[in-house]
Amino acid sequence: MNFLTREDIDTAAHAIGEQTPIKPRIGMILGSGLGALADSIEAAVKIPSEDIPGWPASTVEGHAGLLVLGELEGQSVFVLQGRAHYYEGVSMAQIGLTVRVMQRMGAEILIVTNAAGAVNPDFIPGELMLITDHINLIGMAGLTPLRGPNLDEYGPRFPDMSQVYDRDLMALAREVATENEVPLREGIYICLGGPTFETPADLRFLRGIGVDAVGMSTVAEATVARHGGMRVLGVSGISNKANLDGETITTHEEVLKAGVVIAPRLSVLIRGVLRQL
Ligand code: HPA
Repeated sequence: MNFLTREDIDTAAHAIGEQTPIKPRIGMILGSGLGALADSIEAAVKIPSEDIPGWPASTVEGHAGLLVLGELEGQSVFVLQGRAHYYEGVSMAQIGLTVRVMQRMGAEILIVTNAAGAVNPDFIPGELMLITDHINLIGMAGLTPLRGPNLDEYGPRFPDMSQVYDRDLMALAREVATENEVPLREGIYICLGGPTFETPADLRFLRGIGVDAVGMSTVAEATVARHGGMRVLGVSGISNKANLDGETITTHEEVLKAGVVIAPRLSVLIRGVLRQL
């Protein structure tokens, strides 16, 4: 799949609609090691991603690869418990499909999460970071889910990206974090292609261009969401210190372990936000 067609989106949405009548208001993507929240969804319908035509398969440990539709804090939600990444071999178009289908089913808000490495030296593993903006580095080089004929009914050919992450949702997240004493950093997220973690020189470059946290996801999904007029809230779980000095080694096990600390904090934050939407 090089680019999405209306038919791709309609076919996938129809396959989901055959399993549940839910019309989700909120879409949610839960990143590496952060899927636990999906287990507490009420009246949940769980659909394996391989049952949906065109859906990108998630092959990485810590990603269940399930679509979970149901109710959370009184909101109708469509949750991806685990996502697929570009490095797994799926196309950007397929990554975009996941958000397009949410839009097709009526979702107005996307809450997107990820595990990320701290490029900002002040950040501590286990903390959450509100994504205030992103740098679409792989998109700048052409790897964008919006490549191909524009789907005018979703959004314009040249979409504005001056405010990808919604200011009101950010304000709400800050309030909820303060009320619940959840430490919440703020900063700029960058998506690299992966699957390699960064070299010390990569990280010095990223710090130099103003990055606070680095990961391998989220930007494509947020881009499709904004193109389609959704309001987006983005949260990174800081899973490791980035190896700026060349003395630290980063592993996926470390990322998943940090998820154990991050997931409960993320759950408090997201539930609090959902209650007030
Ligand atoms: N780099 C890139 N992606 C990541 C990292 C990292 O250090 N940690 C979690 N995802």
